[in-house]
Amino acid sequence: MLWPALLRTPLLSNPIQPDMMTRSPPSPFLPLCALLAGWVLLTSAALAQPVYSERVMSLLRQMTLEEKAGQLNLQAGHDPGINPLPRTPISSPLVEQAVREGKVGGVLNIAGADNTRQLQQVAITQSRLKIPLLIGLDVVHGFRTIFPVPIGQAASFNLDLISRAERVAAVEASAAGVNWTFAPVLDMARDPRWGRMVETAGESPWYTAAIARARVLAFQGERLSDSSSILACAKHFVGNGATEGGREYTGANLSFRSMRDNELPPFEAAVEAGIGCLMPAFNAVDGVPGIVNHRMLSDVLRKEWRFGGLVVTDHGAIAELPFHGVAATLADASRAALAAGVDMDMASMGFGPTLPEAVRAGRLDEALLDQAVLRVLAIKERLGLFDDPFARHDNAREQRLVGHPDHLALARQLAEESLVLLKNDKALLPFKTSARSIALIGPFGADQNHLMGPWEAAGIHREVVSLRDGITRVHPRIAIRTVTTGYDNTPDPKALARAVAAAKASDLVVLALGEKAIDSGEASSRANPGLPGQQLALVKAVAQLGKPFVVVVMAGRPMIEPALYALAPVVVQAWFPGSQGGEAIARMLFGLSEPVGHLPVSIVRSIGQIPLTHDKRSTGRPSPGPPEAWASGYIDETTTPLFPFGYGLAYTQFSYGAPVLLNADDPDARIYRINVTVKNTGARAGTTLVQLYTHQRLATIAQPEKQLRGFTRLYLQAGEQADTIISLKREDLSYWSTDTTRQPGQGWIDLMTGPHAGDTQATTLLIR
Ligand code: NOJ
Repeated sequence: MLWPALLRTPLLSNPIQPDMMTRSPPSPFLPLCALLAGWVLLTSAALAQPVYSERVMSLLRQMTLEEKAGQLNLQAGHDPGINPLPRTPISSPLVEQAVREGKVGGVLNIAGADNTRQLQQVAITQSRLKIPLLIGLDVVHGFRTIFPVPIGQAASFNLDLISRAERVAAVEASAAGVNWTFAPVLDMARDPRWGRMVETAGESPWYTAAIARARVLAFQGERLSDSSSILACAKHFVGNGATEGGREYTGANLSFRSMRDNELPPFEAAVEAGIGCLMPAFNAVDGVPGIVNHRMLSDVLRKEWRFGGLVVTDHGAIAELPFHGVAATLADASRAALAAGVDMDMASMGFGPTLPEAVRAGRLDEALLDQAVLRVLAIKERLGLFDDPFARHDNAREQRLVGHPDHLALARQLAEESLVLLKNDKALLPFKTSARSIALIGPFGADQNHLMGPWEAAGIHREVVSLRDGITRVHPRIAIRTVTTGYDNTPDPKALARAVAAAKASDLVVLALGEKAIDSGEASSRANPGLPGQQLALVKAVAQLGKPFVVVVMAGRPMIEPALYALAPVVVQAWFPGSQGGEAIARMLFGLSEPVGHLPVSIVRSIGQIPLTHDKRSTGRPSPGPPEAWASGYIDETTTPLFPFGYGLAYTQFSYGAPVLLNADDPDARIYRINVTVKNTGARAGTTLVQLYTHQRLATIAQPEKQLRGFTRLYLQAGEQADTIISLKREDLSYWSTDTTRQPGQGWIDLMTGPHAGDTQATTLLIR
C-alpha cells in the first residue's frame, strides 16, 4: 500500500535542504590553477561556484573539446518526423550514433522505460567516457495521468493537492525513464490573449511563488537522486507572460524594479526551494532576449541568488538570436549565450558544432565552456545517474505505476477542486438526480481529444473520461442527447436545429463549450479570446428557448465573451480538466461534489480592459469604478472586472465578518494573525476561500491597491459559524523601491479580507 501513503504525504513540510547545487557558498576569485584543485575559473558569468566532486573533475580533464561541447547539446531523442511519445519503442539510429560519439549531453521528447533505456545503454556502454544522458520531457501537468492544466490547478487554492499531483507526475515520468521535466512554468499571466496563461498559476506573484515551492519540492522529492525524483526546471526566466499585446514570442517592456516586485519572486522561491534547473525565456525584455540577459542570468540568478544549477535554453532559442538581431551568426549567438550564463543548448545545434572551433580560434575562453560542462555533469551526479544510470528505466515499475488507479482518483479530485462556478442563477445547480434526460450540446460534450489541454505528455486520448462518460458514470440511467457542433466558423443550420431540438426535448441542458487544446498554450495567442466558431450562436439559440441551461467552459483561459455571461444562467469555468475531467464535472453538476474553485485571474469585461488585475497600482486620479472622464479609467467602460480575482461561488452562501488583527500590539511581530468570522447562511454544507489582501498607504513607489497575501479554506455545515485565522508574514509586506533596494512594509497597512478581491472588509495595521 505504498501509493495511498505516498499520496497523503504533505510534501510542503519536507523542504529540501539547500545544498551546493543551488545555494553555493560565496567564493573568492581564484586563478586558473585553482581549476585543477576543483574550482572553476571565474569569468564573466561565473560567480560563486560549488566544489565539484573528483568524479566530475576527472571526467572534465579527460574530455576533448568536442566532448565538452557535446555535453552541452540537448537534442530530440527521436528521429525527426517520428511521433516522439512513448507508445511504441522508437529506434533512433541517428540519435544513437550521436550519443555514441559523445555529441549529446541530453535528449528530450522521448519516454518509456524500454525506449529510454536503449539510449541510456548506448551512452553508458558505447560512448568513450560513458557519461549518462539527461532525458527531458515537458511534464507540465502530469505524465500519463493528466491533471488539470496549471491555471486550473491554481484555481483549487489547494497547495497540498497540487504538490501531491506533482509528486504523482514525477513518479510516473521517472518510472518511464524521464529524469528531467521542463516545469514548473512560473510566468505571470495578466493577459488572456497570451495563450500560455493556461500553463501558469495566474496573476498573483505571491501565490505563484507559493505554488513554485510546492511543485519544486514535489518534482525533486527529498533527494534528487531518488529514482522517483526528477529534475525540475523553472521557466521562462523572465517576463515571458508580459509580451506586448499578449503576442507570443514578442518582447516585453518591463522595468527591472517592477520585475523585482512581480516577475522575479516565483523564480526566487523556486531557487530557495532547491530547484536544479532554469530556462530563460525566448522573448526579449527591454530588447534583451532571455538567453543573453546577463543581468538576469548572471547578476541576479548566479550572484544574488547564488544558483549553482543548470541553465538550459528554450527550444532553438540560440538559433533565434540572429532573428532578434542581436547576433550575426549561430556561432556568435552560441558564444553570447554561453557568456551570459547559459549551460545547455536545446535544439539549436549551436553549442556542439561551434564552441570547439571558437576555443581553438581564441574567441572563447575554454574556462567558460568548462564551467557549463561542470554544471551539466554535477546535475547528472546529483540525479544519481553515474551511480545507477538505469534506476529510472525499470519496465516493471513503469507497468505498475503509470496510470495507477490512485493517481486517477487524485486527478479527478484535483479536477473537481479546479472548477469555478461563475454564475448559478436561481440555484439551477446542482441538478436533481430525478432528471431523466439531458441534452449535451457543443464541441466538447463527448470529446476526448481536448480535455487534457496543450501539454498531454504521455496521456492517451481514448483513456480520457469525456463529460458524456462522466455523466453516465454518475447517473447511469439518464438518457443523453449529444449534439457535437459549434467549433467551425461556418454556420451549420442543421446541426443548430438538432441542438435546439435536443434542448427542447430534454429535462436538463448543458452546453460544453470552450477552446480546442491547440488553440491554447504556446503559439496560440488570440487577439479575440472569446468562444471560437459558432459557439456563441449556440448559446443564443438555446437561450431563446427560455429554458434554464448550463454552460461549461473548457479552455486554457477565461473567455472574454460578455454575451455568454449575460445570456447563460449558469457558467462553470472548467479550464482543461485533465484525463479524469469529465467525471469531475459531472459530479459537480449533480451535486456529488461541491464547487470550491476560485479564479486565479481576473476576468475582464472587454478586451480593451486588458490588463486589469487585482493588484493594479494606485493612481493620482482614483477611478470610481463606472465610466468617468478625468479619472483613471475609460469613458465607455468601467474599471472593474466582470469577475474579480478570487471569485467563485459555492452551492451555499456565506456571510463574512470584518477582519480582526489579533496581535496588533506586538511591535516585533514577524507573523500577523488576522481573524475572520464566517457563517454558512445557506442550506447546504460548503467551502469558502477566505482571502487576505494588503495595501500599504504611503510608500516611495505607488503601491498596488490590493495584493493577495494569504488565504484559508473553510468548510462549514449549513448554518455553522466559525473563526479562521490567516497568517501574514511581515516580510511579505516589503516592496522594491529601486532596482536594488527592498523596503520593509511600514506605516499604515490596510488588511482586507473577504471571499474575493472585489468584496472585502478592512482593518489596519500600523508598523512603526
Ligand atoms: C518550447 C517551450 O517554450 C518550452 O516551454 C518547452 O519546454 C520547450 N519548447 C520544449 O518542449
